Amino acid sequence: MTTSAVTGATGHLGRLAVSALLDRGVPAGDVVAVVRDPAKVADLAARGVQVRVADYGDPAAVKAALTGVDRLLFVSGSEAGQREAQHRTVVEAAQATGVRRIAYTSIARADTNSTPLAVEHRFTEELLRASGIDSVLLRNSWYVENYTAQLPQYRATGAIVGAAGEGRVAAAPRADYAEAAVAALLADSPASATYELGGPAFTMSELAAVLGDVTGTDLAYRDLSPADFEAGLLAAGLDQGTAGFVLALELATAAGELDVPATDLERLLGRPATDLRTALTTLVG
Ligand SMILES: NC(=O)c1ccc[n+]([C@@H]2O[C@H](COP(=O)([O-])OP(=O)(O)OC[C@H]3O[C@@H](n4cnc5c(N)ncnc54)[C@H](OP(=O)(O)O)[C@@H]3O)[C@@H](O)[C@H]2O)c1
Repeated sequence: MTTSAVTGATGHLGRLAVSALLDRGVPAGDVVAVVRDPAKVADLAARGVQVRVADYGDPAAVKAALTGVDRLLFVSGSEAGQREAQHRTVVEAAQATGVRRIAYTSIARADTNSTPLAVEHRFTEELLRASGIDSVLLRNSWYVENYTAQLPQYRATGAIVGAAGEGRVAAAPRADYAEAAVAALLADSPASATYELGGPAFTMSELAAVLGDVTGTDLAYRDLSPADFEAGLLAAGLDQGTAGFVLALELATAAGELDVPATDLERLLGRPATDLRTALTTLVG
């Protein structure tokens, strides 16, 4: 019996990954959902999934949650700024409990990515390299859902406003990343690997056109200079730090840092990655 665990199983990606494991025929009793709040996964428990409670800030609980686990899909935490200590706890617990394989959700081009988000992912990738555990780095580009979540705002203004220029983003829906993560987790080889994962890339103008079409909304992309974009964020009430953070994401997009070939994702999926129109139609069509 091989036991596979998923952290962040109450989150969007983790929940999809648990479903992907079950869809691939992994018996529910061999799947461990690591969560902070078990009430959020009562449905998974009812299906026979083992639910174990651990906060990344609690080393003893994380160690208990990973006991007996062979393969771990380590979904990066969502508390930016706290993740170095949290992720160290998870990797050390995995070492202590004898986890044989970890697949970790990192960020596109983590080694050179200029966004503030990449710092904690680089740190975690280093921890994993040094851990001696077979490690698969799933360097995910953006989720398509990052954009659909902003649809009400786009609709209110008729515009997607940014400073990304003609930069392309290889976004894919979370479901593709989850399915690929599970494929990588369950594979026996290569022992360790780095995958740059993303779907067919698009510019923000293309996003506006397809999203407008799919939702029957008049949408256009309005590209601003970095200074004007940041000034707009400040005028909207964001503090300087948050505005700088959001601007950095735009500049990384403009520089093509989130544009990766779809090859790795498609190899793991064994099928074409979901294209933007299909993803948007499924999510908000
Ligand atoms: N590629 C992208 O575009 C993109 C976008 C956003 C985020 N991300 C990254 O990808 C991860 C998964 O994305 P998602 O959409 O599934 O995020 P999400 O829905 O916010 O899920 C985050 C998960 O992490 C859990 N978590 C957070 N802090 C924790 C802690 N201290 N201890 C234990 N569990 C903790 C959350 O538990 P609770 O349910 O208890 O809060 C939740 O299950 C994110 O956490 C983030 O690192 C990537």
